Amino acid sequence: MHGFHWHQNHLHADAVPVAAIAEAVGTPTYVYSASAIRQAYERLRAAFAPLDPDLHYAVKASPNHHICRLLGELGAGMDVVSGGEMERAWVSGCAMRDIVFAGVGKSDAEIRAALDGRYSPLREVAERFGAGDPVERGPVGLFNVESESELAAIARLGSELGIRARGCVRVNPNVDPETHEYTTTGKKENKFGVDADRIVELFDRWRDDPGIELVGLHVHIGSPVPKVQPYVEAIEIVLRLIDALAARGHRIDTLDLGGGWPVAYREGEVPPLEAYGAAIVPLLEERRRAGLRVCLEPGRSLLANSGILLSRIQHIKEGKDKTFIIGDAGMQTMLRPALYRAFHFVWPERWSGEPPTWCETPEVDGLAPCDLVGPICETGDFLARDRPLPPMEQGDLVVVFSAGAYGMSMASNYNDHGRPAEVLVDGDQARVVNERQSLAAILETERSPRLLDL
Ligand code: LLP
Repeated sequence: MHGFHWHQNHLHADAVPVAAIAEAVGTPTYVYSASAIRQAYERLRAAFAPLDPDLHYAVKASPNHHICRLLGELGAGMDVVSGGEMERAWVSGCAMRDIVFAGVGKSDAEIRAALDGRYSPLREVAERFGAGDPVERGPVGLFNVESESELAAIARLGSELGIRARGCVRVNPNVDPETHEYTTTGKKENKFGVDADRIVELFDRWRDDPGIELVGLHVHIGSPVPKVQPYVEAIEIVLRLIDALAARGHRIDTLDLGGGWPVAYREGEVPPLEAYGAAIVPLLEERRRAGLRVCLEPGRSLLANSGILLSRIQHIKEGKDKTFIIGDAGMQTMLRPALYRAFHFVWPERWSGEPPTWCETPEVDGLAPCDLVGPICETGDFLARDRPLPPMEQGDLVVVFSAGAYGMSMASNYNDHGRPAEVLVDGDQARVVNERQSLAAILETERSPRLLDL
């Protein structure tokens, strides 16, 4: 049994009715299926099996450290983009050598903690999370370096601490991933990576630096990348660079292909993962045999369809042209529709018909046009717009599908809503892996003004 399905008119996560979860912990709540996560992991691994890649889970997709732990147990390392994510990955049991540290804005404090556990902000509290003393934990396995300025900072701090960091330089290949402009990262006008025509001179300049050893290249062109071809183009550019570097005596042992593998938010909308594997594996197989280590940084492809969001209907309002279904989940809970106009399939939790097709207009009788909105005081606060939906009532549960990636991680306290609870289901067991944030927790850091002694 994998993931989410209707059984006896109620939606289940694995073997657990999600209505019972909503009853027990309230709403809005994110629910994840452990079996769906495992299945997605195995599927990705199989698609790239001939490359035997190191999979580093992109923690930003769904950072809960119990989810990181589950993936770690399957063999994943972690891809992190902040000192916070790095500590989270480590707390979840990931060895530092299995962490790759990316991100354009690494601070000195974050780099120090990535090199030497004495600088971990969790030193005093790590034990509470079942983690050991960070002092002995060693440096991260790899820095994905975004600029020469960052390279200089890592080199300086590495030398200071007597540690030689390992780094891949992120290449900006100027390839269009044909995705939303806000999640396009591989074009020359984007802030990410180093232009391809500057890579060789950069490696030359930093050859033999005592603080950092450049061991490879990294490329991540966007998320999601809904077509195979842009990946192929980017990889071809990076392979030419690897050859140019090798010709100048640089030893390149790692190629990190980033993430961006898509999932279907609507049925059949993107090529299956296997199509990406089939196009990419032949480009790299021979180099893999010759010793090149290939890394992937999947986030969405592991989590998006492994999680749902439950919203409880507070009010129903008949508008002139459509019905507004006002739930307790809104842009504060799930920002993607407001920020990217992203499509998420939504449907009532209680349903006695055939499972509907995930699309804008399912072919089901008796539907009426609706907007599923939230409680936030903004017109942009919607989860689904102009969607034909079955009749629902106040107090019913609505399900937002494909909510497992970039849902909770982008939730906020806007309008003073606490961040939602998270529940991880495994077989017939459901665990609250993150309690709903209380108002007291939100107000705590404002409690007593602290006079600055300037
Ligand atoms: N590696 C790097 C360097 C990245 O920047 C990202 C995502 C990933 C890996 C993981 O990509 P994935 O496999 O999850 O596609 N908030 C947006 C997505 C932003 C992605 C940011 N970087 C959304 O909700 O669609």
